[in-house]
Amino acid sequence: MRMSSQKVLGLLKRSFTPNRPYHAQWLLTRRCNYRCRSCDIWREKPELEEVSTEEVKRGLDVFRRLGVLEVVFSGGNPLLRDDIGEILDYASRYFITTIYDNGSLAAEKIDSLRNVDFVAISLDTLDKKKLDYIKGVPGAWEKAVGAIETLQNEGISVVISPTISRLNQHEIVDFTKYFTKRGVPVLYCLYSYDYPTENRLFGIGKRIDEFEPTDRASLAEVCDELIELKRKQQGIFITTKVLNALKEFCFNGQRTWECKALRGFFIVDHLGRVAGCHLRQPVASILELSDQWNSERFGNLRKEYGRCDKCTYLCYIVYSLHASMLGNLEIIQDQWKNIRLLRTKNRHIPPSVNDLSSTRS
Ligand SMILES: C[S@@+](CC[C@H](N)C(=O)[O-])C[C@H]1O[C@@H](n2cnc3c(N)ncnc32)[C@H](O)[C@@H]1O
Ligand code: SF4
Ligand code: SF4
Repeated sequence: MRMSSQKVLGLLKRSFTPNRPYHAQWLLTRRCNYRCRSCDIWREKPELEEVSTEEVKRGLDVFRRLGVLEVVFSGGNPLLRDDIGEILDYASRYFITTIYDNGSLAAEKIDSLRNVDFVAISLDTLDKKKLDYIKGVPGAWEKAVGAIETLQNEGISVVISPTISRLNQHEIVDFTKYFTKRGVPVLYCLYSYDYPTENRLFGIGKRIDEFEPTDRASLAEVCDELIELKRKQQGIFITTKVLNALKEFCFNGQRTWECKALRGFFIVDHLGRVAGCHLRQPVASILELSDQWNSERFGNLRKEYGRCDKCTYLCYIVYSLHASMLGNLEIIQDQWKNIRLLRTKNRHIPPSVNDLSSTRS
């Protein structure tokens, strides 16, 4: 993560904005070149209409006025947009910026990624066949691993983002060790599915039995092992607070967090519509957001979302547990500490395809 002093100062100044959200996730497109089993995005009617480059930039200006510190670009595959380089360059001037890729396009579009803070490559397993099965595309594993290697060689901060599910939960600790030892941080998603609802912003998680982590006790053990590993190993991008909350949830189904949708975080879709989370209906357009943020209507929606317990998407849990100013700092500190140590300790060992294959016996 390379940050200019101007950007750091801007982030610091903005962090004092009263009643501000920390995180915004922009789902820039519904288009996707993959066919992941756990995902509904590619199954729904393809929608080609999308916000223009200028609209995205004006939206990012709104984020700044609100006091947003972190922006994640996702989709669909946001790298399918021709203007992605311009969007990332603009966003990266002001925000801690991350872009997701399924591993298929990052190497090809490397010049668009030079200024971004993190490129998250979705890779769920070291098992080639299993990844191709999960992604629904032959060659997905080779592409993703090649992209990780290229990004590292080019000095771009790559993080690996596995989605923990029944298919890989038993290997997630070894998977984490493998990458962190090679100087590549790991940022987790947790398999979830959308509850049936009308007017949701964006359909993502498909309910599919083989992904659902039914063995809650072993998932709690994974949390424990990651907590332990965090004491010894850098590059584990999930806080101990979140791991403890997840563990508690696995053991007794109890949520130790209150959802902070439309308070600590919000989502924007490919049409520039804003919602508390992807499962909720749009409540404003991006350009209306500044006027609406402190309105009574948003206040009432926040209360409603605060009582909601309908999903377990890990990113929403993270930004709910870390919604306070101190909580925001805990995330930033965790990332910075990790990046600094990774850079100094492991001056980079690219995981070559052959190297990875040989770990799977
Ligand atoms: C929806 S994708 C969009 C970005 C990009 N297409 C990609 O796959 O990286 C963002 C992340 O969600 C993960 N994901 C897919 N299906 C999921 C589900 N049902 N529950 C939670 N995360 C899921 C993907 O593996 C990916 O890491
Ligand atoms: S998870 Fe990402 S790559 Fe896979 S189908 Fe969904 S949007 Fe596409
Ligand atoms: S718990 Fe929060 S993030 Fe999940 S569906 Fe409800 S409002 Fe949305």
